[in-house]
Amino acid sequence: MASTSSDDSSLPSQRLLGKVALVTGGATGIGESIVRLFHKHGAKVCIVDIQDDHGQQLCANLSDDLNVCYFHCDVTLEDDVSHAVDFTVAKFGSLDIMVNNAGVSGPPCSDIRNFDLSVFENVFNINVKGVFLGMKHAARAMIPVKKGSIISLCSVASAIGGLGPHAYVGSKHAVSGLTKNVAAEMGKHNIRVNCVSPYAVATGLALAHLPEEERTDEAMDGFRSFVGRNANLQGVELTTQDVANAVLFLASDEARYISGANLMVDGGFTSVNHLLRVFR
Ligand SMILES: NC(=O)c1ccc[n+]([C@@H]2O[C@H](COP(=O)([O-])OP(=O)(O)OC[C@H]3O[C@@H](n4cnc5c(N)ncnc54)[C@H](O)[C@@H]3O)[C@@H](O)[C@H]2O)c1
Repeated sequence: MASTSSDDSSLPSQRLLGKVALVTGGATGIGESIVRLFHKHGAKVCIVDIQDDHGQQLCANLSDDLNVCYFHCDVTLEDDVSHAVDFTVAKFGSLDIMVNNAGVSGPPCSDIRNFDLSVFENVFNINVKGVFLGMKHAARAMIPVKKGSIISLCSVASAIGGLGPHAYVGSKHAVSGLTKNVAAEMGKHNIRVNCVSPYAVATGLALAHLPEEERTDEAMDGFRSFVGRNANLQGVELTTQDVANAVLFLASDEARYISGANLMVDGGFTSVNHLLRVFR
């Protein structure tokens, strides 16, 4: 029988106790913050990435209690994703939460006539095919037990144009569409499917378009100042922790009736247009 009431007591200190999660791209950036927060909230976490050194280092930092492990997986390869899900279930007994976080922006290109097709394909392979494979193999593990939460990292670039290279913006619109369609199929299995759309955060992805030698602290400061000036919400800087908090909410039972949503973590950026300067 379906349960009809939600727990109205105050939030538990460990909101994911007893749950098992897999986080793709979990070795650095937003993914690392998600891994750390999930671990703090009692989840058993499998970190999946292609940066083995960073993934293993994070694992070593956290796995005092053997509740965190690392598995090498390129999300563009179906066998890798399938094995990562099977490994997680074999190690921890189930898969309750799948976070499709791995993503790339690709280099900037301001003229479509010069857009390199191999760049376009690489971005779509990681950002769209990778997310689809994560959804597919998470569903394989979750459907038999009739529960689960699948969360994908999307972007403000899923809602409006002009925020990045064509491949990146197109790929994030696709993640939003996939989220709705997979949510439509998974509802009958009590599996929730959502995505989270952050405004710009200072991570490796933010500087990825610069040559290696130009990815300096000054470049990051310049990025911060640029996105701060163009943000809607002033006086606060979006951090990877803010994004992880939104993912934690969607992963937890507090969000038990939320599915098919694209949760904007953008301080209102995609809801307002300040060009007329009515309020500024
Ligand atoms: N940083 C931002 O401003 C921002 C804004 C909106 C959305 N996002 C989204 O958040 C997600 C995480 O971005 P981030 O800023 O933390 O980037 P990041 O570059 O800091 O981290 C991305 C992680 O994904 C991993 N990865 C890349 N390709 C992979 C592959 N093929 N298989 C497995 N792992 C792979 C990388 O090794 C890295 O650890 C992405 O989906 C990104 O599009 C980021």
